[in-house]
Amino acid sequence: MTIHPLPPPKQPIGLGRVPVAHWFLATATVAGLTFVAGVVIVMTMTARTAELNPRPEVAAQIERLTVALIVVFALLLACGVGLAVIVRYAVLKPIGQLTEQVRTVAGGDFDRDLHVDRPLELAELSSHIDSMRARIVSAWRTAADQTEELSRSNSELEQFAYVASHDLQEPLRKVASFTQMLEQRYGDQLDERARQYINYAVDGAKRMQLLINDLLDFSRVGRVTGEKAETESGTALDRALENLSATIEDTGATVTRDELPRVVGNQVQLTQLFQNLIENAVKFRAEDPPRVHIGVRRDGDRWEFSCSDNGIGVEPKYADRIFLIFQRLHPRDVYPGTGIGLALCRKIVEYHGGTLWLDGDRDVDVDGDADGDGAGDGHGATFRWTLPAAGDER
Ligand SMILES: Nc1ncnc2c1ncn2[C@@H]1O[C@H](COP(=O)(O)OP(=O)(O)OP(=O)(O)O)[C@@H](O)[C@H]1O
Ligand SMILES: [Mg+2]
Repeated sequence: MTIHPLPPPKQPIGLGRVPVAHWFLATATVAGLTFVAGVVIVMTMTARTAELNPRPEVAAQIERLTVALIVVFALLLACGVGLAVIVRYAVLKPIGQLTEQVRTVAGGDFDRDLHVDRPLELAELSSHIDSMRARIVSAWRTAADQTEELSRSNSELEQFAYVASHDLQEPLRKVASFTQMLEQRYGDQLDERARQYINYAVDGAKRMQLLINDLLDFSRVGRVTGEKAETESGTALDRALENLSATIEDTGATVTRDELPRVVGNQVQLTQLFQNLIENAVKFRAEDPPRVHIGVRRDGDRWEFSCSDNGIGVEPKYADRIFLIFQRLHPRDVYPGTGIGLALCRKIVEYHGGTLWLDGDRDVDVDGDADGDGAGDGHGATFRWTLPAAGDER
């Protein structure tokens, strides 16, 4: 368990800053002085009365009064001393002990028992605080164990996905190429139906190859191509556009962008991120030629990027589902794909310590001129994600 340094205690204000022991001391001093003054005054008055030679019965009464006063003073003195002892040993000392124990626990020694056995009220308070400590510590340990278990099984799963997809490639390649060879060599001896079956088999094998490659890419994030450094996000976008140049040309798409900043990240993964988002923006286009805008704005110590398009858009109720692996909203013959792109994007962004989401506000101006006249107004999709900024300001 990690232990945070103990924050300084909150300072009380006004007279609350004076420790309670000082209040007791001041009150005890005043009471003591009053007591001594009382004794002196009574003794002086008794002596002066004696000097006046009172009658014998009065003198006897005064003597009895003096004795009574001495007894009262003695009792008062005993009570005062008793009170001081009680305050010292039954209140101040146990409070000090409890404070010391709580300070030790707050300082990180979470297994330290909290216990004072007197007075009754403090004993009850300390036992409640101690059971609270024990419950919090046990809940914390359970959570820490579960997190550890979760991250272990997560990395096992990633390892499994990697090994499975890697090892499946070879037999699959064999299936695909031997089926093709079958067609090439014995095609003339086969009838139309047999050739159709072979086409289905080849098509299935190719699709599986695609899936496996995507799965491999997915399981690689953070494992193989993981190093992060200060990097130009604009360069990653350039590379993504280069990779997509054929698609962009075929579809007559226009991609505009803000001036992109330096970020802390991995070039290869950031390129994959831009590539998948722009590929989607172009693929899921409406009737107009695709228009895509890559925007950015500063948000504290992070950058918030956006990718907006004028395509068919995503219904808000699917805003979470589209990020799940292999989840698609359209049949494959209408829009091709395996459904891993956005899951990969989210994994990349989370690996960089950011978040990726579909913006619920669909009124986005993909012209990027913020005048609200863009053809995509009210349509299209906008994805937003955050990335940590590099040390320097733009
Ligand atoms: N820009 C977009 N406009 C409209 N719908 C989108 C957009 N981006 C994603 N989607 C929806 O989200 C689903 C998941 O997207 P994702 O990129 O994961 O898969 P894909 O593009 O279908 O396949 P792949 O990326 O693996 O080739 C898509 O099938 C599509 O329905
Ligand atoms: Mg995609």
